[in-house]
Amino acid sequence: MTSFTPEERERIVALRRALHAAPELSWQEHTTQRTLRAALEQAGITEIQTVAETGLVATIPGRDPHAPTVALRGDIDALPIHEETGLPFASRHAGVMHACGHDMHAAWTVAAGILLARDPAVGTVKLVLQPAEEVGEGAARILASGALDDVRMIFGGHVDWRFRVGEVVATAGPLAASTDTFTVVFHGRGGHGARPQDAIDPIVGLGAFVMAVQTLVSRRLDPGLPGVVTVGAVEAGRAANVIPEQARATGTIRATTPETRTLLGNGVRQLAESVAATHGLRAEITLSEGTPPLVNTASAAAIAQTAVRALLGDTALRTLATANMGGEDFACYTERMEGCFLRIGTWHEGRSAAGVHTPRFDPDEEALFVGGAVLAECARRASAAPR
Ligand code: NI
Repeated sequence: MTSFTPEERERIVALRRALHAAPELSWQEHTTQRTLRAALEQAGITEIQTVAETGLVATIPGRDPHAPTVALRGDIDALPIHEETGLPFASRHAGVMHACGHDMHAAWTVAAGILLARDPAVGTVKLVLQPAEEVGEGAARILASGALDDVRMIFGGHVDWRFRVGEVVATAGPLAASTDTFTVVFHGRGGHGARPQDAIDPIVGLGAFVMAVQTLVSRRLDPGLPGVVTVGAVEAGRAANVIPEQARATGTIRATTPETRTLLGNGVRQLAESVAATHGLRAEITLSEGTPPLVNTASAAAIAQTAVRALLGDTALRTLATANMGGEDFACYTERMEGCFLRIGTWHEGRSAAGVHTPRFDPDEEALFVGGAVLAECARRASAAPR
């Protein structure tokens, strides 16, 4: 990647290391925000807005005021993990770590800004430094602020240790799953464990529900479409000889399209109700919406692919072997506007293959320049595209 000067490269790495050493959890990104603001100012970007409390939206005016506005998003929050990399710039905050690479995302978004401030795109580019991705709240708050109301297309990326530095995934269609949660409480009637005929046992109903809910994916979902229903916690009773009053199950539902999301959510509700009816129980069901499925739009993915090919060559484009069932709140943006979320390789031979969300995650910093250059190129091409 020749697009950055040696001085700029040093500055981008220093920024990433400063962010990495001082990670902050969701909605606490105050130092991070100050560090990022200073880095943007140093790049000559003057229009910087505080958005969503700990976030920033920086505007780089384009050459043609009538050209479409494009946004580039980097998330900035860290995870409650205690770092064990032993790196000289390892986290100074005990129990908090940039283990999902959001330090890389923030730094490469600023890196894109350095390129775009030096040589503006046709249209205006907004850099979105978004807080609270890990809790799935930041993107919605940025959108609610109205700061992106004029944006036509948005791009962002995530580090991916499964791909080499210089490899990028930029596919149209589903890229991350929805993250809804459910809680079902079965209300029965407690009693003596020796006299079940006088009670209504919610534990037997709970057991039937836990088994039945797995048939949603195996029997109701198209086998060609990915989906997950996981019961992650169950809770009922305290003693061997007591039938409790109630039993509770809570879990997560993952889907990659709005249709399968609805199918699985409705399925959980119907099964809980019918199991309750079968066992003479009452089911109290709560479905909580998490982030929606992330679906890259065809037009934005096509632009991203062209950008990747132009910068890195035809062999740089890769695809995910299987659907990613993790969540990503970039999905909130693509619900509202066209967009493409990329996976950007951070691995090379001889390097630790520790994955994200682990205490030894250590991405190759060379990926900063790939991310910065690719995102800047996406913005250039998107803002110059015919309207
Ligand atoms: Ni992440």
